[in-house]
Amino acid sequence: MSANTITTPVADHTLPESATRPADEKAGERTINLTLHVWRQKNRRSEGRFVTYEARDINTDMSFLEMLDLVNERLIAAGVDPIAFDHDCREGICGQCGVVINGNPHGPRRATTSCQLHMRSFRDGDELTLEPWRAAAFPVIKDLMVDRSAFDRIIAAGGFISVRTGNAPDGNTLLVPKDDAELAMDAAACIGCGACVAACPNASAMLFTAAKVSHLGLLPQGQPERRTRVRNMVARMDAEGFGTCTNHFECEAACPKSISVRFIARMNRDYLLASLVHHGQAERADGGG
Ligand code: SF4
Ligand code: FES
Repeated sequence: MSANTITTPVADHTLPESATRPADEKAGERTINLTLHVWRQKNRRSEGRFVTYEARDINTDMSFLEMLDLVNERLIAAGVDPIAFDHDCREGICGQCGVVINGNPHGPRRATTSCQLHMRSFRDGDELTLEPWRAAAFPVIKDLMVDRSAFDRIIAAGGFISVRTGNAPDGNTLLVPKDDAELAMDAAACIGCGACVAACPNASAMLFTAAKVSHLGLLPQGQPERRTRVRNMVARMDAEGFGTCTNHFECEAACPKSISVRFIARMNRDYLLASLVHHGQAERADGGG
């Protein structure tokens, strides 16, 4: 992939050319001017490159995605192909959005998705480099959009329970210790955005997989498949081409839902136990005792 930079100013003829003019503060509103270096790539087979755009008069109350919407409106008006980026709920729930901003997946604020990041987090005159998630298992579809279906296949390998749940049971018929319930909820907060993979120097999906393994494995309903689940989900994760975990902990730092790396340790323990049991069962089946 090449990184040629060409300058394509966003059409806005009402403003002076300088991108570094002072912030314009009027009636409580504040606007800033930014220079964006955006990864443009037509499709997964084409070469990508950075293209530079001047984004002027950006209201600091806008979300990051609203800023991209505005840039796109101006690009369309100028007859330029708009920047493709993923989004859906725009409220930090769905896990669809995800842009690497100046090297940080989801940008500079901790525990914040790209859609909940606001332009007040940036200063007038800032230069922002915008890239898609970089991982072999997440091929670029176009510009800032990547294919995260590898995560769907990891979920399909074991992110389910097969007990008959029937109707909602009466309260207290199925007792769950409070600590387990809270830990399971913490793990279930994972929105599957993939920032953990993008942040990891090995492009490891251990934090995502550990969250999904743990939120079911901690609850009574998740016990029947607990051992097959962890073995199958880890096998799928490896088959998808994600790297291994070497304890950099960049995943936890980038995670917009603050999923703890302790879930990785929990998954490793579950995986070891499940593998030992499986190995023992296979030996007995072979008549090895
Ligand atoms: S663990 Fe965090 S960063 Fe990784 S997919 Fe889940 S929410 Fe996103
Ligand atoms: S668009 Fe849904 S989490 Fe950002």
